[in-house]
Amino acid sequence: MQYAVNAAAALLVAAMAAGFAQAQTPPLSLVPYVVAGGSIEKPLAAPGNVQRGQAIVLDKSLSSCVLCHVVPDPEHRPMGNIAPPLAGVGARLSAGQMRLRLVDSTLLNAHSIMPPYYRVEGLHQVAPAWRGKPIMSAQQIEDMVAWLLTLKEPPR
Ligand code: HEC
Repeated sequence: MQYAVNAAAALLVAAMAAGFAQAQTPPLSLVPYVVAGGSIEKPLAAPGNVQRGQAIVLDKSLSSCVLCHVVPDPEHRPMGNIAPPLAGVGARLSAGQMRLRLVDSTLLNAHSIMPPYYRVEGLHQVAPAWRGKPIMSAQQIEDMVAWLLTLKEPPR
């Protein structure tokens, strides 16, 4: 079972790395960041934009978040529920804790199936055109952090 989960996650990461990078301007290297106390305190880019962040998270083909997570969505699209619902996450986590989870959740939990959205090493089966590029840009990470922080209400 563990194998099946890992294989599915690897395929998903590969598919995402292949497909999602199109939306980015070419970020050829990562903005350096420091992980301390379960958090990345310093923003990776300019302050995030809440509306853009919501659009990124809700766009399945861009981020795939909603394949695994249920998030508050006025249009009630179908979503996956293999991961914790994100309603209320803005009350549970700080900006820095949120940033770390989006950048690379395996830094917190080595077995996490959540894709590392801002990592370039250790990705498998990445198409040559996208090697060396993270799934999301630094600004897209900040935009998502900004929106997630607005989700203060617990799931209903
Ligand atoms: C392949 C499934 C998967 C995808 C895709 C995914 N996640 Fe996750 N996510 C998880 C799992 C599982 C957890 C629970 C912690 C862990 O196992 O790492 C998690 C944890 C989180 C947490 C912490 C929640 C908490 O209450 O502590 C946040 C925030 C989060 N994800 C946001 C996102 C966002 C935003 C996206 C899209 C950019 C995303 N996730 C994509 C599976 C996924």
